[in-house]
Amino acid sequence: MKDIYIINTHSHANMLKETNIDEAMANASSNNIVTMVPSSTGEDIFEVDKFISKYPDTYGYLGVFPEEVKTFTDKTLSDMELIIKKNKKIVGIGEIGLDYYWDKTYKELQKEVFIKQIEFANQMNLPLNIHSRESHYDTLEILKKYNKNSTAILHCFSGSLEFAKECIKENIYIALGGVVTFKNAVKAKEVAAKIPIEYLLLETDDPYLAPVPFRGKENQPMYVKYVAECIAKLRNTTIEEIARATTNNAMRIFNFNAE
Ligand code: NI
Repeated sequence: MKDIYIINTHSHANMLKETNIDEAMANASSNNIVTMVPSSTGEDIFEVDKFISKYPDTYGYLGVFPEEVKTFTDKTLSDMELIIKKNKKIVGIGEIGLDYYWDKTYKELQKEVFIKQIEFANQMNLPLNIHSRESHYDTLEILKKYNKNSTAILHCFSGSLEFAKECIKENIYIALGGVVTFKNAVKAKEVAAKIPIEYLLLETDDPYLAPVPFRGKENQPMYVKYVAECIAKLRNTTIEEIARATTNNAMRIFNFNAE
């Protein structure tokens, strides 16, 4: 593996619309940025498989997103298992989790599908990339109860510093993206400034949530640099130090040193 500058642990680069995907991936790659792409539905696990096979310096997660739980069928886990066995670039299960913001009617189904995918990740010995929105304590409770051996990452972390510390006690990693650069994101800035650096990861969650100075525009994988730069300022250190520490954390989680 070539020298990595930053590992972007969550990017929907396959969903870019206004940005040319080939160019966005080439730019990320030439800046030594590695991009990790999650799936959202029981169908687009195949799309992630294709996407990461096409672009260098990309890896993938397979999983069904809480808002898409109705696409999770009996076949989904066996489809995932086949892809994992064939494609060595699948490095985790995600994005999976709970979202009580958009739709509360499927809470029980969300929990059931979340638990099934945690157990599957445990069986495959793969890390978890987790989406949690307005569901912080249910997410933590389920992880404590059902997760045996998979390292968990809370992507686009939106909780308080206190909640971040509770997660870290459980060896859960905190991934921060563009929100941290927003002027009014007091909580996210506090988390970015104060959590132990050993538990910090970077991401973009593009095409959404572009960091300042691109706020409101379409986000893309390379903009993870602006997230790193902002966190460096908040922690009174250099972007190189943030890049180095978060890359080491990701390499540890995804076992990249073994390659
Ligand atoms: Ni996402």
